[in-house]
Amino acid sequence: TAIDVPSAEYELGEHPDFMYKEMLDQRDAVDRCLRGRLDRRFMSARLDGIGLSPREYQQIRRVKLLGCGSAYYAAQVGAGMIEELARIPADAEPASEFRYRNPVVDPDTLYVAISQSGETLDTLGAVHELKRKGGRVIGLVNVVSSSIARECGSGIFLHAGSEVSVAATKSFTNMGVTLALLALELGRVRDLSITQGRRLVEGLDALPALVGEILGAEQRIAAVAARYANVANMFFIGRVRGWPVAREGAQKLKEISYVHAEAYQASELKHGPLALINPQMPTVAIVPDDELLAKNISTIEEIKARGGPVIAVTDADLPAGLATDVIQVPRAHPDLAPITLSLPLQLFAYHLAKSLGRDIDRPRNLAKSVTVE
Ligand code: G6P
Repeated sequence: TAIDVPSAEYELGEHPDFMYKEMLDQRDAVDRCLRGRLDRRFMSARLDGIGLSPREYQQIRRVKLLGCGSAYYAAQVGAGMIEELARIPADAEPASEFRYRNPVVDPDTLYVAISQSGETLDTLGAVHELKRKGGRVIGLVNVVSSSIARECGSGIFLHAGSEVSVAATKSFTNMGVTLALLALELGRVRDLSITQGRRLVEGLDALPALVGEILGAEQRIAAVAARYANVANMFFIGRVRGWPVAREGAQKLKEISYVHAEAYQASELKHGPLALINPQMPTVAIVPDDELLAKNISTIEEIKARGGPVIAVTDADLPAGLATDVIQVPRAHPDLAPITLSLPLQLFAYHLAKSLGRDIDRPRNLAKSVTVE
């Protein structure tokens, strides 16, 4: 495992830990990530580092996104964005699985390797496997001088700045932002209209301020988290846009609080896990204000009917009394909701772990980047 050597100027300052510092840096991080990348003339994205012509963009028949840990959940967010906005079949897979299963590498697929450190061995292994078989792979990487950035040779840098805490925060957020830009670009060379493009550009423009506003609700989220600090297990549920958000939320909680958390598709709850619902099993329900709102509301009602406490994390106005606790954030463009709805989950995991007295930046058994088998 690699030892993190933060640059000399990267210090804790007044912050209690790096995770806190990094969470609070997200408004600026998103701003850095977007700088110069929005094309307001054609309502598209300007991603020069990818180096593909419009014709080459058009030839892409499929997109496969690879990463490990939080980068894999970000990959899943990106797959959803690309399918929705560009109508290209897209899917995410852990790089660690991909590299060992003798994957079929297809010339019409765009492969995207996602990594904060750019050094994760499994992701690097996947890039090597792709290159060996002649696949077209780009990198979404934070550390500019890293192995994955070098091996890919083209891609989009995350510009999240240094991230030291094991738990990914601003890198995850900026993975979401770069993937939205990629989806926008892929969409605009296809059937995404200029009006739809404009809506997304406006949504991205508004994002830094929105991120700042959500982070400003920290104390409210901390109060909710403190109420659940003594539980042994928690469910995180979501459907479609909310599903990778639920997975990343469960991951954050596990990593830093050691509370067992399991993510489930809200739609699959009734096919098994509903048996586990009781007053000791709270569920964090991710509820985007999208076309699946009514479905999510009825899932919450099913959980409540079985005595399960529900914490709704939402950008919708939910019926009063529906959930036990509600963490409501301002509404983003629906395709950007996976980014904004992930922020309260970072704060939730952080404050829950704090009330348990955990070592936030150095969780047991984990490393910031896994560079060994
Ligand atoms: C480790 C870290 C995770 C991280 C993953 C991928 O397992 O503990 O927080 O998401 O590696 O790291 P990368 O640097 O490739 O994004």
